Amino acid sequence: MLQDQFGRTHDYLRISLTDNCNFRCSYCMPVEEMVWMPSSRLMSTEEVLTLARVFVDLGVKKIRLTGGEPLVRKEFPEILDGIAKMGVETTLTTNGVLIHKHIQNLKSAGVRSVNVSLDTLDREKFQKLTRRDQFGQVWDNILLLLDEGFRVKVNAVALHGLIEDELCGFVRTTEKLPLHVRFIEFMPFAGNHWTSKQVVTAKQMLDRVKREFPVEKLEDMKHDTAKKYQVPGFAGTFAFITTMSEHFCGNCNRLRLTADGKIKNCLFGKEELDLLSALRAGQEVVPLIHESVARKHAALGGQFTSDYKKADPDKMENRSMITIGG
Ligand code: GTP
Ligand code: 5AD
Ligand code: SF4
Repeated sequence: MLQDQFGRTHDYLRISLTDNCNFRCSYCMPVEEMVWMPSSRLMSTEEVLTLARVFVDLGVKKIRLTGGEPLVRKEFPEILDGIAKMGVETTLTTNGVLIHKHIQNLKSAGVRSVNVSLDTLDREKFQKLTRRDQFGQVWDNILLLLDEGFRVKVNAVALHGLIEDELCGFVRTTEKLPLHVRFIEFMPFAGNHWTSKQVVTAKQMLDRVKREFPVEKLEDMKHDTAKKYQVPGFAGTFAFITTMSEHFCGNCNRLRLTADGKIKNCLFGKEELDLLSALRAGQEVVPLIHESVARKHAALGGQFTSDYKKADPDKMENRSMITIGG
């Protein structure tokens, strides 16, 4: 069991399969500085599966595949299958644009839920943000996932200047569609030029939604990242991921494995231990995993506090979001 010094059990692993993406969102990818990892540094399919098995044997029960964009990794189907066969809940976070090519893979691997990133419902704004004219394909794929019976969460990063006009539109999509939309407070990562002024808090967003809709609070599960709400009678829900204004680290159950095989004990954790090099050198990786868990901070990787206005991105040591996978 992977328990840390604060009594938190870690049974959820997020594995990044690549730092590459077919979109170009500047809040995620430091466009001007981005250098892709050479493929020799990426975990091979076999290495991903070997390390995943080690985590499962240590008590991991849920594995989420992330990127960059996990579906651009050409071995995605084999990796998905291999992990699903380990008997853990297997899922992914994707930008959605390649979902139609993988829908059968997802079904045959027994995936039940998919998280799709989508920050705007406006085609032109989408193109500006992602530098790709693919809004229609992403939206069609969200509908395809619903038609095929998947539970679908939509992740919208709350970008100041954009989200204000999107909030009610997203909430309206939940009237007829059983979608679970989550508005995510904008977080600081290397190269994304975060400032506290750009953060739109959950409270500010909720106040705005309440001006247009009656709103009911729903119950949250212990390990949820999101605080859930619903407009009574609507088919879906909406929620807020409040990392900046009210972190949820006290119930954290997550570990991360980067595409180059480093374990991160927190989204904001700066200490990384190199499992892949150990594996390639024929050394034990289990002691490194225990060491990483033992070194986990109480909250936010020890890099800032809930007083997010005091967070100084220049003093934070971390990777860019695209190389973590969320
Ligand atoms: P579920 O497994 O469905 O609960 O999904 P999730 O919300 O954990 O994952 P997803 O990949 O959809 O991420 C949505 C947002 O939550 C992203 O902005 C992530 O960076 C953020 N997020 C995911 N895990 C954590 C976490 O452990 N801590 C914090 N602070 N944010 C997280
Ligand atoms: N702040 C908050 N969420 C972010 N994501 C990417 N960058 C950020 C950021 N700076 C989201 C993506 C994706 C998820 C993995 O993380 O939109 O849905
Ligand atoms: Fe866990 Fe770190 Fe996320 Fe907090 S910020 S919930 S400690 S991964």
